[in-house]
Amino acid sequence: MIRLSNVTWRYGSPTRRVAGGRSADPATALSGVTFSVPQGGFRWLLGPSGAGKSSLLRLLHLEALPQSGELEILGTHVGVDVKRATLARLRQRVGMVHQDFRLMPTLSISDNVALPLRLERRDEAAVADEVAAILRWVGLSERSGALPAELSGGEQQRAAIARAVIARPGVVLADEPTNALEESQSSRIVGMLREVSALGATVIVATHNDALVRRFPAPALRLERGRLTTDESSTP
Ligand SMILES: Nc1ncnc2c1ncn2[C@@H]1O[C@H](COP(=O)(O)OP(=O)(O)O)[C@@H](O)[C@H]1O
Ligand SMILES: [Mg+2]
Repeated sequence: MIRLSNVTWRYGSPTRRVAGGRSADPATALSGVTFSVPQGGFRWLLGPSGAGKSSLLRLLHLEALPQSGELEILGTHVGVDVKRATLARLRQRVGMVHQDFRLMPTLSISDNVALPLRLERRDEAAVADEVAAILRWVGLSERSGALPAELSGGEQQRAAIARAVIARPGVVLADEPTNALEESQSSRIVGMLREVSALGATVIVATHNDALVRRFPAPALRLERGRLTTDESSTP
């Protein structure tokens, strides 16, 4: 479950926590954003370049805190006074997939996918079982010992999805996950993200691939200059 109420977020303000090389000029990325997504819901996140999609996903991934308004993720209220330990624990329950995969280049596919479980200090026998199962699910059993650079883009993104979901997060976010991929791979990626939501995670996928959105009909959150233009209260 995700709930935002009147959330405003501005780059370059004192509570800024997002890393990035850009100037610190205050730029309002999100204003007055209100919506909620029930547990297990799937939402497209749409809007032109610069609309605030990535900023919203970074906020939901807890890389930043809202400067005003309310944010609740998986039953935890996230305000400026939230404890670091609470934030760290909550962050482990949010999976993230990026357009450029962001796999660790020197680790094998199976070691990349195992990372979230090793962070949780799970015992290695359990890690091996879980990694084998999830690699089967994403169709990469044969590539488990390969390095990311030895895989195609679609395969790398499937590995990134495996890594994002292996610890069974309650929320999975994807920021334009199919931008670098061909149509057939894009459909496969979205199909997997739909499956993740059917299994109970709340999933939000930013895209500007209209064909893909038509192929996988689902309610959409539409951003325009940092403001939500859809009335989410009317969608199931
Ligand atoms: N690191 C940053 N520093 C300052 N402004 C930024 C930064 N990242 C994004 N912005 C600004 O925030 C707004 C929203 O950007 P973004 O969330 O990346 O939109 P989208 O993902 O929809 O393209 C834009 O005006 C953009 O220029
Ligand atoms: Mg973006």
